[in-house]
Amino acid sequence: MILEIKDLHADAEQRNVLKGVNLTVKEGELHVLMGPNGSGKTTLAKTIMGHPSTKITKGELLVDGKVINDLPVNERAKLGLFLEFQNPVEIEGLGLVSFLNTARGALNAQKIGYREFMGEIKANAESLRLREDLIGRSLNYGFSGGEKKKMEILQMAMLKPKMAILDEPDSGLDVDAVRIVAENINQFMKKTGAGALIITHYSRILNYMNPQFIHVISDGKIVREGGKGLIEEIERGGYGFGAEQ
Ligand SMILES: Nc1ncnc2c1ncn2[C@@H]1O[C@H](COP(=O)(O)OP(=O)(O)OP(=O)(O)O)[C@@H](O)[C@H]1O
Ligand SMILES: [Mg+2]
Repeated sequence: MILEIKDLHADAEQRNVLKGVNLTVKEGELHVLMGPNGSGKTTLAKTIMGHPSTKITKGELLVDGKVINDLPVNERAKLGLFLEFQNPVEIEGLGLVSFLNTARGALNAQKIGYREFMGEIKANAESLRLREDLIGRSLNYGFSGGEKKKMEILQMAMLKPKMAILDEPDSGLDVDAVRIVAENINQFMKKTGAGALIITHYSRILNYMNPQFIHVISDGKIVREGGKGLIEEIERGGYGFGAEQ
């Protein structure tokens, strides 16, 4: 899949947040989006996915050359887009297994038997060092912050999107968990050939990954781009433009 973001302007709840974003992510590529708090990273992620709190006012989102500006969330998911939420929600009464089963059905995923399905969930849980009993509980209900973030990666691994937008997959994770999550994302990309756009504030997760493209957003616009060296520069010297107003 090729995801193209062209001169994207978008509002979050009537407030103009994105002010002309240009970014292209191709199959198999790993991109990183960094930037100060409030610069528009999550808004960009939500706008790509078609979250109802966002509204495109100018510009285009394209998947494989087709404009998706007006497609609803479920249709974007069917094309192969996936969003990991910065703050995953707790859903009491909905189990992970039935959630994944419904989602796979909605995505017209290849049918697999129950045992194989459960086996795949358990293998992913093990690989993410997620306790098996979490699989049987309501989705994210009473989970720790780190467990919720890992659960999002498990969902990605099970739903096999073509393009994953991961909003701070490292937030709230302990040092070992950061490495484990990074390794799982790497494995997923290698196995499926998916592209990914990772939003993060810290270089730690990138010690275990090999992003080809780094983008820095400030006040709703990409202001700097570069290779991995840019991360070290930011880590050392900050953004030089502080928090957004
Ligand atoms: N639903 C909303 N209602 C009102 N304002 C919003 C909404 N979503 C985002 N904003 C505003 O838009 C701006 C950008 O927010 P966004 O969440 O995209 O920032 P971010 O770059 O992800 O920041 P962080 O690094 O803290 O996660 C902020 O000023 C925020 O308050
Ligand atoms: Mg954010």
